[in-house]
Amino acid sequence: MKIKPVIGIIPTLHFTSEEENNPYENQARFIRMYAEKIKKSGGIPIGILDENIDYTSICDGYLWPGGQKMLKEYAYLLEDALKNNKPVLGICLGAQTIATFLNILEDKEQDPSKSYEEIYEQNKEEKPYLKKLEENSGHRNYVTSDKESIDAARHKIHIEKDSLLYQIYKTEELNVVSLHSFAINRVPACLNVLATSEDGVIEAIAYNNPNTFILGVQFHPEIEEESTLFDAFIRHAKKPYQLLVNKTHKLEEENKEIVNYTSEYDTSNPNMDYEAYLAWEEFKSYARKNGYYIDIESAYRSVAAQQKEWDSCVENHGLEHTKRFVAVPGYSEHHTGLALDICMKKDGVWINEFHPDLEDCYAFLKENCAKFGFILRYPEGKEEITGYGFEPWHFRYVGNVTLARYIMENSLTLEEYLEGK
Ligand code: DAL
Ligand code: ZN
Repeated sequence: MKIKPVIGIIPTLHFTSEEENNPYENQARFIRMYAEKIKKSGGIPIGILDENIDYTSICDGYLWPGGQKMLKEYAYLLEDALKNNKPVLGICLGAQTIATFLNILEDKEQDPSKSYEEIYEQNKEEKPYLKKLEENSGHRNYVTSDKESIDAARHKIHIEKDSLLYQIYKTEELNVVSLHSFAINRVPACLNVLATSEDGVIEAIAYNNPNTFILGVQFHPEIEEESTLFDAFIRHAKKPYQLLVNKTHKLEEENKEIVNYTSEYDTSNPNMDYEAYLAWEEFKSYARKNGYYIDIESAYRSVAAQQKEWDSCVENHGLEHTKRFVAVPGYSEHHTGLALDICMKKDGVWINEFHPDLEDCYAFLKENCAKFGFILRYPEGKEEITGYGFEPWHFRYVGNVTLARYIMENSLTLEEYLEGK
């Protein structure tokens, strides 16, 4: 279970009145179908209204819809998506806009002295279609509800095997509806072409880093009954660091970002999530500078490793104790690579778990963990909520300092924060 991601929908069109200064004619429009698809796939749709509001701090992903006009003022959202690995789904003109912006970013890299605006204006002079896209002259993206027109616009596309689109639809041939006057022409080096129609029109493009989801489709997935593409989009927008794995929520997807870590405590390499590792290194040096020589006793555990943990605990402490302190394999937060069991070296000896000499160290870790994006996951007195006894050694990376501070300062558990328990 993860909390719902917020998806910013870029408006389709800004009307400016013929009649000067008529505020009622200055509109942003959002197509309800996009919002409904996002909702159905488990996201929260919000409309991007004003380029002066910083939507980057609110949104987990962006939907760039079709329409009649390319809105260059929203290019900063694409830059945010690239920088912070947020997914973007561009549809029809939205896909063309993504390609155009990325072309400009590519030109900018070649000539860093030029601003985005300068390159854009220069490209506009050189390529009249850009001017057309921006000035709302010609692009007709009228998707109708009339079945006959939809059927007339339906055609086959070929999807590249093993591409992002293939992973989503699991087919090399798809029947889609496309209605457009323009198509993607120049494909920047950072984009891959994922699908084409029989007449050679580019039907899908995606950013070429496999960990990202910057996807543009020329066709209209919102018109279909099924929501395959939107489901994939929302899956990518879910915040991995706010994953909830507990007695009732099994881990749904394996974390692919697990890296090797060598602990001085245990040389069997307690691996962990890459970002958690970066945060842990800082947390560790901070603690060591303050006199607590800490390291990791256990971090990422496979289901098989958790089974060993379970069996050995049952053998040594009995079933009742095991249920309070060890998760059933498949339901352990350790499977995420975001949970760390911390131990400490004292007088040359490693000590862990309920060792009485750890009291000071645990108090220090609890006090300071949020500075590095960690929370104490199973606090004292919260057993009813978390389902586990007090584990002063088990810390959980939640992805950012603000969230960690909020949880720790309000003495919350992840269950209370994510599920309002
Ligand atoms: N000790 C925690 C609850 C686990 O086994 O995941
Ligand atoms: Zn643990």
